[in-house]
Amino acid sequence: MMQPFDARLGAELAGFRRDGVYKRLLYLDSPQAPRARMEGIGEVIVLSSNNYLGLCNVPEVVAAGKAALDRFGAGTASVRFICGTFTVHRLLEQACARLVGTAASLSFVSCWNANEAVPGTLLGENDIVISDQLNHASIIDGIRLAKAITKCQTAVYRHADLTDLTEKLVAAKDRRVRMVVTDGVFSMEGAIAKLPELADICRKHDAVLVVDDSHATGVLGKTGRGTAEHFGMVGEVDIITSTLGKALGGAAGGFVASSANVCDYLTQRARPQLFSNALPPTVAASALASVEYLEQHPERVEQLRQNTRYFRDQLLASGFKPIPGETPIVPVILGETAKAIEMSNQLLAEGVFVTGFGYPVVPQGQARIRCQVSAAHSRDDLDQALSAIRTVGQRLGIV
Ligand SMILES: Cc1ncc(COP(=O)(O)O)c(C=O)c1O
Repeated sequence: MMQPFDARLGAELAGFRRDGVYKRLLYLDSPQAPRARMEGIGEVIVLSSNNYLGLCNVPEVVAAGKAALDRFGAGTASVRFICGTFTVHRLLEQACARLVGTAASLSFVSCWNANEAVPGTLLGENDIVISDQLNHASIIDGIRLAKAITKCQTAVYRHADLTDLTEKLVAAKDRRVRMVVTDGVFSMEGAIAKLPELADICRKHDAVLVVDDSHATGVLGKTGRGTAEHFGMVGEVDIITSTLGKALGGAAGGFVASSANVCDYLTQRARPQLFSNALPPTVAASALASVEYLEQHPERVEQLRQNTRYFRDQLLASGFKPIPGETPIVPVILGETAKAIEMSNQLLAEGVFVTGFGYPVVPQGQARIRCQVSAAHSRDDLDQALSAIRTVGQRLGIV
């Protein structure tokens, strides 16, 4: 049985290669940073990382992980309610709640798990969850799972279309709970959710608002508290999910931040909590140090904003047309997948690491390269990357 099965997968993989959509893994042989050492290539400028604040490698974050390894060992060797949980988890959860402005938070081994836990645990048969069309895959899969487990209803509204959302909420007025889920920052576009309008609509239609702030935590708002701070609405989002694997140290992990009851209910019933190990203490301690670092260094967030503005302005001045916006996610649409992959390959040959994205990650015909700016990029890093982007863009006839 295994042999034909394996052969079929091999044939499909060959098809991916033939179609130019095969993703090869690129190995770094140094910490994630504005400049990293890539196996087989040498030093590259990294414009393809969610290390928005450059915290992956700051000494405080690394030292906290090492100290936690010495103090707690590698882990508890089972799930939290069975084997106990480490005090550093409680400190981390208090810090995450403080950062995003909620009463409580609960950590998960990934934001993927957090997004899976929310609808599948908090909704039931008489409820509905309504999701933005461009939400992250983890939200989509979390909702699919919720539908299968709880028999809740599901609906999708056109991206950022408030009229469509309102119509769907009106149609769902008899449901016990209406839950609306949106990304805070949409990862492939860099667009910011229309939070004031969404919160208003949710209030009017008595709906629970869930915002996945994975690309906004540490990024948006004057002090990096996320989409809510960006709009002056800290404390007004019902449920926030976010990752510890991007701006907050970049290792792994995620959390749900909300009321004490929501977090306690998830502790009691969320299957990724009950049947999977906790975040390793090393990772929890590094993430905690990252939150504390962010609280003490709001100037990093301002630096990120300045770097983003500079990078976007320079791209425009060179004739590129990035999707307009103000977040450090700067996508340039190129059309066909093969073109995005070709540009990414040529940039890598010039020592600049930028990923090309094609179908099915983004819609057909909207393949793109996605540049991501960090607070840790120096002007020299950005200028060198921009020069390579210009050279390759001219070579490929893009500008
Ligand atoms: C919007 C969004 N939500 C959730 C996730 C998943 O986060 P994690 O890596 O912590 O599972 C990602 C990661 O790409 C994301 O972009």
